[in-house]
Amino acid sequence: MSDATTIRVGGPAPYDVVVGHAVTRELPALLGSGVAQVAVIAPVSLHDFGTSVGKTLGEAGFPVRLIEVPDGEDAKTATVAAACWQALGDANFTRSDAIVGVGGGATTDLAGFVAATWLRGVKVVHVPTTLLAMVDAAVGGKTGINTAAGKNLVGSFHTPAGVLCSLTALETLPGPEWVSGMAEVVKAGFIADPVILDLVESDSASAAVATGPHTLQLITRAIQVKADVVAVDLKETGAVGSIGREMLNYGHTLGHAIEKVEDYRWRHGEAIAVGMVFVAELAALQGRIPHELVRRHRKVLSDIGLPVSYRGDRWEELHAAMRVDKKSRADRLRFVVLDGLGTPVIAESPAPEDLVEAYKRVSERSE
Ligand code: GLY
Repeated sequence: MSDATTIRVGGPAPYDVVVGHAVTRELPALLGSGVAQVAVIAPVSLHDFGTSVGKTLGEAGFPVRLIEVPDGEDAKTATVAAACWQALGDANFTRSDAIVGVGGGATTDLAGFVAATWLRGVKVVHVPTTLLAMVDAAVGGKTGINTAAGKNLVGSFHTPAGVLCSLTALETLPGPEWVSGMAEVVKAGFIADPVILDLVESDSASAAVATGPHTLQLITRAIQVKADVVAVDLKETGAVGSIGREMLNYGHTLGHAIEKVEDYRWRHGEAIAVGMVFVAELAALQGRIPHELVRRHRKVLSDIGLPVSYRGDRWEELHAAMRVDKKSRADRLRFVVLDGLGTPVIAESPAPEDLVEAYKRVSERSE
């Protein structure tokens, strides 16, 4: 029996996210009508899966072209985007054709960017293959590439026509990649859906692996949180009377700085796990949340194998990296903090002594 679950992402161009085992057969329906041919963009390491996605589409009657790109972040370059444009040109790709992006967040970011820019925008459907891409990158329409000036500085909002999350693909995901993605799932718990935290706490050993009993529910709940946010604030301009899409940045201000200072050797989820503990400490120092909620951050994250502390000798570098983060405004540091469980707000320009004390509390436990 199929366990396929559909989440509708609202907004000006609504679309469905289908999650479940063996859901590839849903792909033609997500592409919708009027598509003449399809280009599948997939990394070389996913050759077999990319080919099987192409086969499913071929059997549904679409002429398919497989465009293979480098693995991971190496795909998010202007050179690779230009090679994709060339392949689309060679195939006489028109506005009635569509792109399917298969892979982790780097590949779906690239595929979305190519789709956003070819003929000023063609249809794209994402088939994310990592937990991180399912609950974050593939949903919400952010696309982009990296340049010498920085990561994700070139890009566009381009809403997909659909997203297909195959839980079967997750069964071969390396353990640390699963755990990294779980940081974004837990983030969704703290900012909007505490049932996620209850589920993880009820059996953290199961939550630390892709085959746990709550996998489908954890993923659909995390996607629902993101869907609700991007439906009202796609372009991160801040919905009226609310923090809007920026809430998804919980833990990311320090997290991005750690990734940068560590030269991107830390996994994204590991860095934002530390970042979430940091902003929880900051919120406690500002009198917004009780210490018990800070302890809950540490426990839920560390119980599934995520780091909750960082070395104590990097404040200057982290502070400098946070000041140039693209989310800071006019040199003012902005942090998403909790005013209570499930109530994210912006703390702009927090007192420097609170920042230093929060860092101290995160680093104290690093030995
Ligand atoms: N990854 C945060 C966002 O999509 O806004």
